[in-house]
Amino acid sequence: MLQELETIYKEALEAIASVRDSEALRAWERTYLGEKGSVYGMLRSIGKLPKEERADFGKRANEVKEALLAAMTEREKLVSAAELARDLEEGQIDVTLPGRPHPTGGLHPSTHTLRELYRIWGDMGFQVYRSRDVEDDETNFTLLNIPEHHPARDMWDTFHTTTPGVILRTHTSPGQIHAMRELGDEGNEPIRVILPGMCYRYEQVTARSEMQFHQLEGLAVGRNIRMSDLRGTITEFARRFYGPKAKIRFRSSYFPFTEPSVEVDVECFLCGGEGCRVCKYSGWIEIAGAGMVHPTVLQNGGYDPTQWSGFAFGMGPERMTMNKHDIRDIRYFWNNDLRFLEQF
Ligand code: DAH
Repeated sequence: MLQELETIYKEALEAIASVRDSEALRAWERTYLGEKGSVYGMLRSIGKLPKEERADFGKRANEVKEALLAAMTEREKLVSAAELARDLEEGQIDVTLPGRPHPTGGLHPSTHTLRELYRIWGDMGFQVYRSRDVEDDETNFTLLNIPEHHPARDMWDTFHTTTPGVILRTHTSPGQIHAMRELGDEGNEPIRVILPGMCYRYEQVTARSEMQFHQLEGLAVGRNIRMSDLRGTITEFARRFYGPKAKIRFRSSYFPFTEPSVEVDVECFLCGGEGCRVCKYSGWIEIAGAGMVHPTVLQNGGYDPTQWSGFAFGMGPERMTMNKHDIRDIRYFWNNDLRFLEQF
């Protein structure tokens, strides 16, 4: 047995010499020094020896155990120093490497345009009034002088909800009713607001028309507001948005909620009126529908139309963005293609 002990001792010393990491060291410890390890195994079976040999064997076995423990402590120092060195080596930061690009978000092109519109209209005294996306039939149509079954309802293809009479707004104009009723103090206070928001139409999606898009509505109600105020205000807006030389024109049109109604064109800012692809060779680009608020609409907003008057307009921020950047397909706006969105 003594012979066997010496063999184990020799073997253990040889084995530890090739231990390179702490995992291997733990395995070595289990093999030679663990509860079930060989040296302990031998100590446990000491009873099998004849009595007179036990003392010598025990002494030697303890020496071997101590020697192996010492060898392990030595090895542990080496192994952990090596591991630390390797960690430091691997974790080294090369400060000369170029930085990794950090992706940042950006604003949607429509948001850029809307913010510019808020700034310009804000400077001109119009405050932002937020109105709901989900409307009722009555406010979206009837109160705007578009009665049920009136053929003018065909101008807007509507998304209906499963609740009768509850729809998605087809334009921001119903916000006029909410604004007049909420801010007008029962028809006693003048108001000047812009009403931005998403609108929805049950429409065939094409390069020119989407089923959702923004509008920016404007409304001014006061005591002596006239068509010339509308013209002057829109002209000033155009100068601020398109540049000091911007020219506008009014074309006669029809909307149920205004009388008279116009469509507003700005002289093409790309070709200066010469004619180009963006203005479809007409020299003019449509920027808004507008008009004097219809007496019925004023009344529905709580105002006495014999005392009060107002103008209103509606613009399309996506259209404006498309013209500005020569974007030829409105579908780019909502299909979340980063190649498009990252250009703004
Ligand atoms: N609501 C109209 C539309 O969807 C746009 C519009 C036209 C708004 C004339 C107005 C206006 O306020 O006066 O197409």
